[in-house]
Amino acid sequence: MQLLNAWYAVALASGLQPDQPLTVHLHGQALVLWRGADGAPLAAQDRCPHKGASLGRGCLVEGRLRCGYHGWTFNEQGECVEIPANRQGMNIPHRSHLRPYPCQEGHGFVWVWWHQQADLDPSTVPPLPPIEHVPAAQDPGWRTMEGSAVWSAHWLRILEGFIDLTHVPYVHKGTFGGAAADELYPAEESATADSLYALIDTPRDRHYRSDQAGNPLSRLKRTLLGSGHPEDEPDPADPAPDQPADGADAAPAGVQHLNLWMANFLLIRVVFKDFSIYLCLIPVPLGDGRTQLLWRHFRSFLRSPLADGAALKRVRRFLEEDRYIVESMQPFEPDLDGREDLLLASDSMTLGLRKLLRAKREAGLVR
Ligand code: FES
Ligand SMILES: [Fe+2]
Repeated sequence: MQLLNAWYAVALASGLQPDQPLTVHLHGQALVLWRGADGAPLAAQDRCPHKGASLGRGCLVEGRLRCGYHGWTFNEQGECVEIPANRQGMNIPHRSHLRPYPCQEGHGFVWVWWHQQADLDPSTVPPLPPIEHVPAAQDPGWRTMEGSAVWSAHWLRILEGFIDLTHVPYVHKGTFGGAAADELYPAEESATADSLYALIDTPRDRHYRSDQAGNPLSRLKRTLLGSGHPEDEPDPADPAPDQPADGADAAPAGVQHLNLWMANFLLIRVVFKDFSIYLCLIPVPLGDGRTQLLWRHFRSFLRSPLADGAALKRVRRFLEEDRYIVESMQPFEPDLDGREDLLLASDSMTLGLRKLLRAKREAGLVR
């Protein structure tokens, strides 16, 4: 299932070098990304019009993309400007031009406007989604990590999995889920034609209290006080361990903000009194039954790179917990009309996403 006329984040910006083109895949289409002379990213169909070689295996010459096979060279508009084997004075045919895609860089990713209009007027393409809160790369208040993994799962199943709150105590029981509340309902939800938002109070739940009984210092406190191990870094959805262990009706210790911008940009912000963790989760539909999950992780504490190893291990562990269950889901592609799954009120975010996609389908934008 494809959502058309939408911005997709398709690569980590850090993965697109200034001097080397990069092949990525989106909905079964190979795309070549490269940086023009001014460093801005560009995208086009990754097939040389000459004999079909991948342009990702070519090179860059002063911001121009040169095919590695016979040296045909393309400018920033995708026009072929040089065919070395041509005799002097021979024309460069119009069919030698590439099909470019609108492309931008933002929030640490390279984005492509996915569409099927042969005569797209680039001036009609809207700006990137109005995403806020992603820390800048050099912001000293945050430590940033990023990575990627390939899952054998549908991109929408993955998105649904990350906006699904009630799986946490079960799927993540081996990591942060043991500390999650059984009943996590959004305190606030809203939607636009292209986005979903939920605010989730993040309390200390009874399991957490009983699990921690007799433990005078929480894992986080031990970490912050220097007597813990960096492995103890909290994860998104980790209830705040800085409230008193007794008092069953303690006020929410923190909140999570969950923002999804279509097509594939999910930002989870876990905000506690003393610290925050932000996570961008980006499922890129490769189109062959697999999805490349790109992620960026930000923490406002333990900002030393020395803590990266343990933090990375934790991120990979909880993503692996999600992957294991999401790859098992049947049918492979979610049914927007709800004939296959039995979604209830507690699945409100998933219901919200399917409603949004049904509206897109009615507008002829789902294929
Ligand atoms: S295939 Fe690209 S120049 Fe020949
Ligand atoms: Fe999960």
